[in-house]
Amino acid sequence: MTTIAPDTASLAALEAGFEAAVAADERIEPRDWMPDAYRASLVRQIAQHAHSEIIGMQPEANWITRAPSLRRKAILMAKVQDEAGHGLYLYSAAETLGVGRDELLDKLHSGRQKYSSIFNYPTLTWADVGAIGWLVDGAAITNQVPLCRCSYGPYARAMVRVCKEESFHQRQGYELLLALSRGTDAQHAMAQDAVDRWWWPSLMMFGPPDDESAHSARSMAWKIKRHSNDELRQRFVDICVPQAESLGLTLPDPDLTWNERRGHWDFGPIDWDEFREVLKGNGPCNEQRIDQRRRAHEDGAWVRDAAAAYAAKHGEGNR
Ligand SMILES: [Fe+2]
Ligand SMILES: [Fe+2]
Repeated sequence: MTTIAPDTASLAALEAGFEAAVAADERIEPRDWMPDAYRASLVRQIAQHAHSEIIGMQPEANWITRAPSLRRKAILMAKVQDEAGHGLYLYSAAETLGVGRDELLDKLHSGRQKYSSIFNYPTLTWADVGAIGWLVDGAAITNQVPLCRCSYGPYARAMVRVCKEESFHQRQGYELLLALSRGTDAQHAMAQDAVDRWWWPSLMMFGPPDDESAHSARSMAWKIKRHSNDELRQRFVDICVPQAESLGLTLPDPDLTWNERRGHWDFGPIDWDEFREVLKGNGPCNEQRIDQRRRAHEDGAWVRDAAAAYAAKHGEGNR
Protein backbone atom coordinates (compact mmCIF):
# COMPACT_ATOMS: atom_id res chain seq x y z
CA MET A 1 0.00 0.00 0.00
CA THR A 2 1.35 3.42 -0.90
CA THR A 3 0.16 6.49 0.90
CA ILE A 4 0.69 10.01 -0.27
CA ALA A 5 1.66 12.40 2.49
CA PRO A 6 -1.03 15.07 2.73
CA ASP A 7 0.06 18.71 2.72
CA THR A 8 -0.26 20.76 5.88
CA ALA A 9 -3.69 22.18 5.07
CA SER A 10 -5.28 18.84 4.20
CA LEU A 11 -3.59 17.21 7.21
CA ALA A 12 -5.24 19.80 9.45
CA ALA A 13 -8.59 19.05 7.78
CA LEU A 14 -8.13 15.29 8.30
CA GLU A 15 -7.24 15.84 11.94
CA ALA A 16 -10.25 18.07 12.43
CA GLY A 17 -12.48 15.43 10.82
CA PHE A 18 -11.08 12.73 13.08
CA GLU A 19 -11.49 14.86 16.23
CA ALA A 20 -15.07 15.71 15.24
CA ALA A 21 -15.93 12.04 14.67
CA VAL A 22 -14.52 11.10 18.08
CA ALA A 23 -16.33 14.00 19.75
CA ALA A 24 -19.62 12.93 18.12
CA ASP A 25 -19.11 9.36 19.40
CA GLU A 26 -18.83 8.00 15.88
CA ARG A 27 -16.73 4.90 15.23
CA ILE A 28 -13.36 5.17 13.52
CA GLU A 29 -13.08 2.37 10.94
CA PRO A 30 -9.94 0.77 9.43
CA ARG A 31 -10.05 2.78 6.18
CA ASP A 32 -10.65 6.11 7.93
CA TRP A 33 -7.78 8.51 8.37
CA MET A 34 -6.41 8.45 11.92
CA PRO A 35 -3.43 10.07 13.65
CA ASP A 36 -0.33 7.86 13.80
CA ALA A 37 -0.27 8.08 17.59
CA TYR A 38 -3.91 6.89 17.79
CA ARG A 39 -3.06 3.90 15.59
CA ALA A 40 0.08 3.13 17.60
CA SER A 41 -1.79 3.40 20.88
CA LEU A 42 -4.50 1.01 19.66
CA VAL A 43 -1.96 -1.48 18.35
CA ARG A 44 -0.20 -1.45 21.72
CA GLN A 45 -3.43 -1.91 23.68
CA ILE A 46 -5.07 -4.50 21.41
CA ALA A 47 -1.85 -6.52 21.11
CA GLN A 48 -1.39 -6.53 24.88
CA HIS A 49 -5.01 -7.59 25.24
CA ALA A 50 -4.66 -10.39 22.63
CA HIS A 51 -1.45 -11.64 24.26
CA SER A 52 -3.19 -11.70 27.67
CA GLU A 53 -5.99 -13.85 26.28
CA ILE A 54 -3.68 -16.55 24.96
CA ILE A 55 -1.16 -16.47 27.83
CA GLY A 56 -4.16 -16.57 30.18
CA MET A 57 -5.01 -20.04 28.82
CA GLN A 58 -1.98 -21.50 30.58
CA PRO A 59 -2.71 -21.16 34.31
CA GLU A 60 -6.14 -22.73 33.93
CA ALA A 61 -5.23 -25.33 31.31
CA ASN A 62 -2.90 -26.56 34.05
CA TRP A 63 -6.00 -27.98 35.80
CA ILE A 64 -7.93 -29.52 32.88
CA THR A 65 -6.51 -32.99 33.42
CA ARG A 66 -7.19 -32.80 37.14
CA ALA A 67 -10.72 -31.36 37.13
CA PRO A 68 -12.72 -33.16 39.83
CA SER A 69 -15.63 -34.23 37.57
CA LEU A 70 -16.56 -34.58 33.91
CA ARG A 71 -18.88 -31.58 34.24
CA ARG A 72 -16.11 -29.38 35.65
CA LYS A 73 -13.69 -30.59 32.99
CA ALA A 74 -16.11 -29.80 30.14
CA ILE A 75 -16.74 -26.32 31.56
CA LEU A 76 -13.04 -25.59 32.01
CA MET A 77 -12.14 -26.82 28.53
CA ALA A 78 -14.85 -24.61 27.02
CA LYS A 79 -13.56 -21.66 29.00
CA VAL A 80 -9.94 -22.12 27.96
CA GLN A 81 -11.05 -22.48 24.32
CA ASP A 82 -13.06 -19.26 24.65
CA GLU A 83 -9.84 -17.49 25.67
CA ALA A 84 -8.13 -18.76 22.51
CA GLY A 85 -11.09 -17.39 20.55
CA HIS A 86 -10.73 -14.01 22.28
CA GLY A 87 -7.10 -14.00 21.20
CA LEU A 88 -8.21 -14.61 17.61
CA TYR A 89 -10.79 -11.81 17.57
CA LEU A 90 -8.23 -9.42 19.01
CA TYR A 91 -5.33 -10.34 16.72
CA SER A 92 -7.75 -9.86 13.84
CA ALA A 93 -8.77 -6.45 15.20
CA ALA A 94 -5.07 -5.50 15.44
CA GLU A 95 -4.53 -6.65 11.84
CA THR A 96 -7.09 -4.09 10.63
CA LEU A 97 -4.58 -1.46 11.81
CA GLY A 98 -1.93 -2.74 9.43
CA VAL A 99 0.19 -4.98 11.69
CA GLY A 100 0.74 -8.68 11.04
CA ARG A 101 -0.04 -11.40 13.54
CA ASP A 102 3.47 -12.85 13.08
CA GLU A 103 4.97 -9.52 14.01
CA LEU A 104 2.83 -9.27 17.16
CA LEU A 105 3.61 -12.82 18.26
CA ASP A 106 7.28 -12.19 17.63
CA LYS A 107 7.13 -9.14 19.91
CA LEU A 108 5.40 -11.19 22.60
CA HIS A 109 7.95 -13.98 22.39
CA SER A 110 10.88 -11.59 22.53
CA GLY A 111 9.43 -9.62 25.46
CA ARG A 112 8.91 -6.41 23.45
CA GLN A 113 5.16 -6.45 24.06
CA LYS A 114 3.49 -7.22 27.34
CA TYR A 115 0.56 -9.26 28.58
CA SER A 116 -1.42 -8.80 31.78
CA SER A 117 0.82 -9.37 34.81
CA ILE A 118 -1.94 -11.39 36.51
CA PHE A 119 -1.00 -14.47 34.48
CA ASN A 120 2.44 -14.60 36.06
CA TYR A 121 0.96 -16.03 39.24
CA PRO A 122 0.70 -19.81 39.68
CA THR A 123 -2.49 -21.88 40.00
CA LEU A 124 -1.67 -23.94 43.08
CA THR A 125 -5.00 -25.66 43.77
CA TRP A 126 -8.27 -26.48 42.03
CA ALA A 127 -9.89 -23.56 43.86
CA ASP A 128 -7.65 -21.22 41.84
CA VAL A 129 -9.78 -22.02 38.80
CA GLY A 130 -12.75 -20.61 40.72
CA ALA A 131 -10.84 -17.58 41.99
CA ILE A 132 -9.59 -16.79 38.48
CA GLY A 133 -13.11 -17.03 37.03
CA TRP A 134 -14.67 -14.92 39.75
CA LEU A 135 -11.93 -12.32 40.23
CA VAL A 136 -9.72 -12.28 37.12
CA ASP A 137 -12.51 -12.67 34.56
CA GLY A 138 -14.63 -10.39 36.77
CA ALA A 139 -11.95 -7.68 36.65
CA ALA A 140 -11.60 -8.25 32.91
CA ILE A 141 -15.34 -7.64 32.40
CA THR A 142 -15.23 -4.47 34.48
CA ASN A 143 -12.40 -3.26 32.23
CA GLN A 144 -13.91 -4.47 28.97
CA VAL A 145 -17.58 -3.53 29.15
CA PRO A 146 -16.70 0.17 28.58
CA LEU A 147 -14.47 -0.93 25.67
CA CYS A 148 -17.62 -2.02 23.79
CA ARG A 149 -18.04 1.75 23.26
CA CYS A 150 -14.40 2.30 22.27
CA SER A 151 -13.92 4.76 19.40
CA TYR A 152 -12.23 2.17 17.16
CA GLY A 153 -14.95 0.07 15.49
CA PRO A 154 -13.30 -3.35 15.12
CA TYR A 155 -12.06 -3.32 18.74
CA ALA A 156 -15.45 -2.21 20.09
CA ARG A 157 -17.29 -4.92 18.14
CA ALA A 158 -14.86 -7.66 19.22
CA MET A 159 -15.47 -6.61 22.82
CA VAL A 160 -19.23 -7.19 22.61
CA ARG A 161 -18.79 -10.90 22.04
CA VAL A 162 -15.81 -11.18 24.39
CA CYS A 163 -17.82 -9.63 27.22
CA LYS A 164 -20.70 -12.08 26.78
CA GLU A 165 -18.27 -14.96 27.12
CA GLU A 166 -16.43 -13.35 30.03
CA SER A 167 -19.73 -13.14 31.92
CA PHE A 168 -20.05 -16.91 31.62
CA HIS A 169 -16.46 -17.29 32.86
CA GLN A 170 -17.16 -15.10 35.86
CA ARG A 171 -20.30 -17.05 36.72
CA GLN A 172 -18.59 -20.43 36.46
CA GLY A 173 -15.83 -19.22 38.79
CA TYR A 174 -18.36 -17.91 41.29
CA GLU A 175 -20.37 -21.14 41.16
CA LEU A 176 -17.22 -23.25 41.59
CA LEU A 177 -16.15 -21.23 44.65
CA LEU A 178 -19.66 -21.43 46.09
CA ALA A 179 -19.61 -25.23 45.83
CA LEU A 180 -16.23 -25.36 47.59
CA SER A 181 -17.21 -22.79 50.19
CA ARG A 182 -20.28 -24.86 51.12
CA GLY A 183 -18.32 -28.13 51.00
CA THR A 184 -16.08 -29.70 53.64
CA ASP A 185 -13.89 -27.59 55.94
CA ALA A 186 -10.88 -28.46 53.78
CA GLN A 187 -12.70 -27.36 50.62
CA HIS A 188 -13.83 -24.13 52.27
CA ALA A 189 -10.24 -23.44 53.39
CA MET A 190 -8.96 -24.13 49.88
CA ALA A 191 -11.45 -21.62 48.41
CA GLN A 192 -10.50 -19.01 51.01
CA ASP A 193 -6.79 -19.51 50.36
CA ALA A 194 -7.30 -19.04 46.61
CA VAL A 195 -9.26 -15.82 47.13
CA ASP A 196 -6.58 -14.58 49.56
CA ARG A 197 -3.89 -15.08 46.90
CA TRP A 198 -5.80 -13.71 43.88
CA TRP A 199 -7.50 -10.66 45.43
CA TRP A 200 -4.64 -8.16 45.35
CA PRO A 201 -3.23 -9.18 41.95
CA SER A 202 -6.80 -8.76 40.58
CA LEU A 203 -6.90 -5.17 41.83
CA MET A 204 -3.56 -4.59 40.07
CA MET A 205 -5.18 -5.65 36.76
CA PHE A 206 -6.66 -2.16 36.43
CA GLY A 207 -3.16 -0.78 36.05
CA PRO A 208 -1.25 1.83 38.03
CA PRO A 209 -3.03 4.64 39.91
CA ASP A 210 -4.36 7.40 37.65
CA ASP A 211 -1.59 9.86 38.49
CA GLU A 212 1.08 7.32 37.41
CA SER A 213 -0.66 5.90 34.35
CA ALA A 214 1.39 6.84 31.29
CA HIS A 215 -1.22 6.23 28.59
CA SER A 216 -4.49 7.02 30.38
CA ALA A 217 -5.15 10.70 29.63
CA ARG A 218 -4.52 10.40 25.87
CA SER A 219 -6.58 7.18 25.60
CA MET A 220 -9.47 8.85 27.40
CA ALA A 221 -9.36 11.89 25.13
CA TRP A 222 -9.51 9.56 22.12
CA LYS A 223 -12.36 7.59 23.73
CA ILE A 224 -10.38 4.37 23.53
CA LYS A 225 -10.73 4.29 27.31
CA ARG A 226 -13.92 5.57 28.91
CA HIS A 227 -13.07 5.42 32.61
CA SER A 228 -9.85 5.82 34.57
CA ASN A 229 -7.95 2.92 36.19
CA ASP A 230 -8.91 4.01 39.71
CA GLU A 231 -12.56 4.47 38.77
CA LEU A 232 -12.78 0.94 37.35
CA ARG A 233 -10.85 -0.52 40.29
CA GLN A 234 -13.36 1.07 42.69
CA ARG A 235 -16.27 -0.27 40.66
CA PHE A 236 -14.77 -3.78 40.87
CA VAL A 237 -14.25 -3.60 44.64
CA ASP A 238 -17.85 -2.41 45.09
CA ILE A 239 -19.11 -5.38 43.05
CA CYS A 240 -16.94 -7.96 44.83
CA VAL A 241 -17.58 -7.11 48.48
CA PRO A 242 -21.24 -8.24 48.56
CA GLN A 243 -20.43 -11.21 46.30
CA ALA A 244 -17.71 -12.38 48.72
CA GLU A 245 -20.26 -12.19 51.48
CA SER A 246 -22.74 -14.35 49.53
CA LEU A 247 -19.93 -16.81 48.89
CA GLY A 248 -19.24 -17.05 52.62
CA LEU A 249 -15.64 -15.99 52.00
CA THR A 250 -13.65 -13.00 53.17
CA LEU A 251 -11.44 -10.61 51.21
CA PRO A 252 -7.89 -10.27 52.58
CA ASP A 253 -8.06 -6.55 53.36
CA PRO A 254 -8.59 -5.36 56.96
CA ASP A 255 -9.19 -1.81 55.68
CA LEU A 256 -12.30 -2.67 53.64
CA THR A 257 -14.97 -0.34 55.03
CA TRP A 258 -18.20 1.04 53.63
CA ASN A 259 -17.81 4.78 53.16
CA GLU A 260 -21.24 6.32 53.54
CA ARG A 261 -20.12 9.72 52.31
CA ARG A 262 -18.49 8.43 49.11
CA GLY A 263 -21.05 5.69 48.57
CA HIS A 264 -18.18 3.25 47.91
CA TRP A 265 -16.06 0.70 49.74
CA ASP A 266 -12.73 2.07 50.99
CA PHE A 267 -9.88 -0.37 50.59
CA GLY A 268 -6.29 -0.69 51.79
CA PRO A 269 -3.08 0.25 49.96
CA ILE A 270 -2.00 -1.85 46.98
CA ASP A 271 1.58 -3.16 46.91
CA TRP A 272 2.73 -1.43 43.73
CA ASP A 273 6.30 -2.63 44.28
CA GLU A 274 5.06 -6.17 43.72
CA PHE A 275 3.21 -5.03 40.57
CA ARG A 276 6.33 -3.38 39.17
CA GLU A 277 8.48 -6.43 39.94
CA VAL A 278 6.06 -8.79 38.16
CA LEU A 279 5.88 -6.36 35.24
CA LYS A 280 9.69 -6.29 35.05
CA GLY A 281 9.67 -10.06 34.62
CA ASN A 282 10.30 -11.10 38.21
CA GLY A 283 6.90 -12.65 38.98
CA PRO A 284 6.66 -16.29 40.03
CA CYS A 285 5.85 -17.60 36.51
CA ASN A 286 7.03 -15.03 33.93
CA GLU A 287 9.72 -17.26 32.48
CA GLN A 288 7.56 -20.38 32.47
CA ARG A 289 4.70 -18.62 30.65
CA ILE A 290 6.87 -17.24 27.85
CA ASP A 291 8.80 -20.50 27.47
CA GLN A 292 5.59 -22.45 27.14
CA ARG A 293 4.18 -19.91 24.65
CA ARG A 294 7.30 -20.11 22.48
CA ARG A 295 7.17 -23.90 22.59
CA ALA A 296 3.47 -23.94 21.65
CA HIS A 297 4.26 -21.62 18.72
CA GLU A 298 7.09 -23.85 17.50
CA ASP A 299 4.99 -27.01 17.93
CA GLY A 300 2.24 -25.36 15.88
CA ALA A 301 4.53 -24.48 12.96
CA TRP A 302 3.35 -27.49 10.92
CA VAL A 303 -0.27 -26.40 11.29
CA ARG A 304 0.52 -22.93 9.93
CA ASP A 305 2.60 -24.43 7.11
CA ALA A 306 -0.18 -26.86 6.22
CA ALA A 307 -2.79 -24.08 6.28
CA ALA A 308 -0.62 -21.89 4.04
CA ALA A 309 0.01 -24.79 1.61
CA TYR A 310 -3.70 -25.59 1.53
CA ALA A 311 -4.61 -21.94 0.93
CA ALA A 312 -2.09 -21.72 -1.92
CA LYS A 313 -3.35 -24.92 -3.53
CA HIS A 314 -6.99 -24.00 -3.03
CA GLY A 315 -6.38 -20.53 -4.48
CA GLU A 316 -4.65 -22.00 -7.55
CA GLY A 317 -7.44 -24.50 -8.14
CA ASN A 318 -10.02 -21.76 -8.17
CA ARG A 319 -8.33 -19.43 -10.60
FE1 LIG B 1 -11.00 -13.70 27.64
FE1 LIG C 1 -12.28 -15.16 30.37
